[in-house]
Amino acid sequence: MTKISGHTKIVGIIGDPVQHSRSPQMHNAAIAERKLDYIYVPFHVRSGELREAIEGFKALNVLGVNVTIPHKRAVMSILDDASREATLIGAANTLIFCDGKVYGDNTDAQGFLQAMAEEGIDVPVGGSAVVLGAGGAARAVVVALALSGLNLITIANRTEWKANQLEKELAPTSETAISVVDLASSQLNAAIHSADLLVNTTSVGMKDTDQLLIDLDSLSPDTTVYEIVYTSPETPLLRIAREKGCQTIGGIGMLVHQGAIAFEKWIGIVPNVETMRIALEQALYPKEL
Ligand code: ATR
Repeated sequence: MTKISGHTKIVGIIGDPVQHSRSPQMHNAAIAERKLDYIYVPFHVRSGELREAIEGFKALNVLGVNVTIPHKRAVMSILDDASREATLIGAANTLIFCDGKVYGDNTDAQGFLQAMAEEGIDVPVGGSAVVLGAGGAARAVVVALALSGLNLITIANRTEWKANQLEKELAPTSETAISVVDLASSQLNAAIHSADLLVNTTSVGMKDTDQLLIDLDSLSPDTTVYEIVYTSPETPLLRIAREKGCQTIGGIGMLVHQGAIAFEKWIGIVPNVETMRIALEQALYPKEL
């Protein structure tokens, strides 16, 4: 635990709820390892009080905060400035306070790509991906892939109009073709069959009892399967993909890397990603370790 003094600088996370967040363990482990005079604090901020909270952080000289549900999109209208990623995604997960101003960034897209690179898997430039879901995480993933030069991204979501809206907003911003298909359609099976990458950004898989969202019969061993859900080290989707011979990527890497990028932006020091990962795994999977 950091020894708190009059010099200790504050970073943290805002959300409602925020008690479930494991980011404090992850960041404080990296802070402690580098013997930095910082502390990462969870702040429970209700939706109606977001603006007041941001003003309070400015007044209290808080350096920066991560943003989680339900504030990621809402916070955009309060920012003085935003990064290209945050603007394209339409959401900020990292705020930086400086000179009485608040700057919004989004490290999810970069975190998604870095976690993939860490596994030695290249972004399929010129290839295709299937993205399941059309919520906040899907927006970050689609932006990351579209900016990386994919040829085609196929989106399938339970609520189709949300996928259509995502396509409408993002299609004009890149040369990547974006198509929307139904979750239970033969077009989705065909897209999965030829995809270089399949990404699940929905919350399906958080519980071991969750039914699979899609039919995996058409999944080829040449497809990399990437799961954003991190509540268990191997979700049913990842287990089936592994058994089919696919390369698989679990959700913890993206969580670690989005955090590590935010840490560096606030503190100016590259944290030890392994330390962050171990702290997260201990917090998330205590029984399995
Ligand atoms: P996040 O920020 O983590 O992406 P979100 O914005 O609430 O969270 O998005 C959750 C995603 O999971 C959505 O794509 C949601 O589908 P809907 O748009 O139809 O709500 C998807 N999702 C959640 N529960 C689901 C379920 N039981 N079956 C299918 N999709 C589900």
